[in-house]
Amino acid sequence: MAKLRTVFRCADCGVAAAKWVGRCAQCGTWGSLVDELVRDGAPRRPSTGPGRPSLGAGAVSPVPLALVDTGPTVSWATGVAELDRVLGGGLVPGSVTLLGGEPGIGKSTLLLQVLASLAATDGPCLLVSAEESAPQVRLRAGRLGTLPDGLLVLAETSVPLILDAIDRCAPSVCVIDSIQAVLDPELGPAPGSLTQVRECAHLLARMAKETGTAVILVGHVTKDGALAGPRALEHAVDTVLSFEGDRHHALRLLRAVKHRFGPTGDLGLLEMTDAGMKGVADPSTLLLGDRRTGVPGSAVVAALEGRRPLVVEVQSLIGLAPGHGPRRSAQGVDPGRLALLLAVIDRQFRSKLSSFEVFVSAVGGVKLTEPAADLGIALALASSAAGIALPDDLVTFGEVGLGGELRQVPHSARRLAEAARLGFGQALVPASVPDGPSGLTVARVSTLAEAVAFLHLGPPLRALAETSWAEGSSSLQSVPHPVEGVG
Ligand code: TYD
Ligand code: MG
Repeated sequence: MAKLRTVFRCADCGVAAAKWVGRCAQCGTWGSLVDELVRDGAPRRPSTGPGRPSLGAGAVSPVPLALVDTGPTVSWATGVAELDRVLGGGLVPGSVTLLGGEPGIGKSTLLLQVLASLAATDGPCLLVSAEESAPQVRLRAGRLGTLPDGLLVLAETSVPLILDAIDRCAPSVCVIDSIQAVLDPELGPAPGSLTQVRECAHLLARMAKETGTAVILVGHVTKDGALAGPRALEHAVDTVLSFEGDRHHALRLLRAVKHRFGPTGDLGLLEMTDAGMKGVADPSTLLLGDRRTGVPGSAVVAALEGRRPLVVEVQSLIGLAPGHGPRRSAQGVDPGRLALLLAVIDRQFRSKLSSFEVFVSAVGGVKLTEPAADLGIALALASSAAGIALPDDLVTFGEVGLGGELRQVPHSARRLAEAARLGFGQALVPASVPDGPSGLTVARVSTLAEAVAFLHLGPPLRALAETSWAEGSSSLQSVPHPVEGVG
């Protein structure tokens, strides 16, 4: 049996050191090294060369890459079309997939559906439930319809016992829910440590490669979005899927962060319903469903998630700062980007938006991370500050530079086509964007100032500046256009 020894590993970057030091030599983090047990016996480099014994029959030799036979590429459709879209067809036999997401987002539900579907078509499938008892799993499964006989459940946390069970029932697909809840008793009694997570994943991945069972590991992400066991798992698996969304909204976004069997650009859109996860065919309509038109502070952005266009409403509300420093809240929008856009607006229009409370939110639990959302966010802010609503049928996209210049963003045609499909009549976009489909008038602007002028927001914005925002809360009463909110 392999010998165990202690190393000290940085909890941040995962680099190991032979002895404890106060600061990680790799990433420079202080106090991040924790001791862990590892197995000796990593494959050593065989000694060859002059004077060394020949390796004989066990020697390995490289082959021309062009002559390598890729064999048939098999993948099992999971029965959830949105997941298959992200995986580029389905699950590959012998592959290891990590599905990460916040607790409560719907990982267990989604995978139970996948197993139920695969068990009906591709042989036995095993759900290893390390967090819930078998009756609890059965209760959840009751909401998802009929269950095939080939769907097996094992409520167990010990990886050696799990491997033994897998050996006996030879499932096509095995889900470990979750990797943070299973343990190798040889490494200690507590699951969830960096060592446990990494070693258990390693054992399960080796089993997958040896047996051809496709393994899906569920991983809970921490608040800051990192998978517990930072980066330690990502290189050990073939595919890393991230499942995102706001728990208080139905929409869930599924994407491949890493995928050895295909591209990572596609996005899966699902909705949590009373009967499990359902694919969302028309997300933009879902997202714009509750939109109120004619309200200052609201702008519609033609965004792109992966390769999918997504038309999303951005809302902004600017309010009085109550004495102590102004608050800023960004939901579904990068706070750094929001600060940048406020600084650009203040510089361009001499407004002092930065000294007021600013709330910005992308509606529906969507995260607008691409720079293409800049113009929409900036116009939502300007509209809220000016107290003037943007036209109902206006959609916008474009990156805003530090000098207030607008830059083109990728896939303009796809964004315009989606906006036209949803019935938007005009698009306000950077100067170099080509014409859109018929029915959609494309207005081109080179700077944020031009965009603001196009929408007649300039005079009220500048009037705000002249009425001395710097004087603080009391001055807001005297501005010509009161700052209005969005409901
Ligand atoms: P769950 O799959 O347990 O999330 P995770 O494994 O990521 O922690 O499901 C989360 C929530 O979804 C749970 O609060 C109950 C709810 N839910 C539904 O709304 N519909 C359903 O059909 C099921 C099974 C669960
Ligand atoms: Mg779960």
